[in-house]
Amino acid sequence: MKLENRRIWITGAASGIGEAMARQLSGVASLLIISDLNAERLLALKPELEKGITTVDALPFDLSNRTEVEKAADKVLATYGGVDLLINNGGISQRGLFYETTEEVDRRIMEINFFSYVVLTKKMLPPMLAQGFGHIAATSSMTGKFGFPLRSSYAASKHAVQGYFETVGLELYDRGIRVTVASPGRIRTNISVNALSGEGTRYGQMDPGQAGGMPAEKCAARYLRAIRRDQWEVYIGYNEILMIWFKRYLPWLFRKLALRVGKV
Ligand SMILES: NC(=O)c1ccc[n+]([C@@H]2O[C@H](COP(=O)([O-])OP(=O)(O)OC[C@H]3O[C@@H](n4cnc5c(N)ncnc54)[C@H](OP(=O)(O)O)[C@@H]3O)[C@@H](O)[C@H]2O)c1
Repeated sequence: MKLENRRIWITGAASGIGEAMARQLSGVASLLIISDLNAERLLALKPELEKGITTVDALPFDLSNRTEVEKAADKVLATYGGVDLLINNGGISQRGLFYETTEEVDRRIMEINFFSYVVLTKKMLPPMLAQGFGHIAATSSMTGKFGFPLRSSYAASKHAVQGYFETVGLELYDRGIRVTVASPGRIRTNISVNALSGEGTRYGQMDPGQAGGMPAEKCAARYLRAIRRDQWEVYIGYNEILMIWFKRYLPWLFRKLALRVGKV
């Protein structure tokens, strides 16, 4: 879908990949709704994005809170009648062994990374169907293609995104709605710093893999290019993306590498 003069809503827009996408859409989209947990950062970002034709609405809410998610969606529907492109991107990672991770943390990760995407998509769909077009993007991960040590619930949530949104794309194809699932590899953001430990505290460390990863701006550009091209899915990263192919075609090699790289 072309992105010029579109109404676009991005979650997780105050940092990392989401912020980079918001910056690249400023002056392109007619309306940018930027959402995040951190209201202060959103409000600081808003004037930077408001240029040219773009109206920017900062809409903070907690993706882990079902009521807040629904309220935010209702507000968007009431104020703007819907959006042309929804980028479900907000998310939280994990750094904890599965048997040391509380069920509360397991559920929190699923709520943020998966169920919030489901709720927002269902809410934004009716006006898209009524106008006969629309695009839904969902940020998964290469960990949505295979399991990896210390990321059991994260991998589960990102696998859920893959299966769910591929289905959404197939069900809606004939009705003019396109779906893009993005699977980034290691992108240089604060994702590992913000990750949850098994007990739900902030992990607080920049992983070397993240530090040496692809810059968020480059990832955002590839993500947006995939949306423009109506790609069903896109893998974004450097050599680590090979792991997806190893898992599919050389599973023995994938396991050898995952056991070595993910040593705990
Ligand atoms: N970086 C990578 O290597 C990588 C790889 C694969 C997939 N991804 C995915 O890419 C997406 C963006 O992550 P990122 O790398 O850009 O990391 P990031 O900088 O940490 O961005 C994640 C965003 O999600 C927001 N968020 C987290 N919990 C939230 C909640 N409960 N309510 C509302 N917003 C919440 C964060 O807001 P606050 O900052 O306010 O908490 C933040 O803006 C995520 O879905 C992530 O899983 C990242």
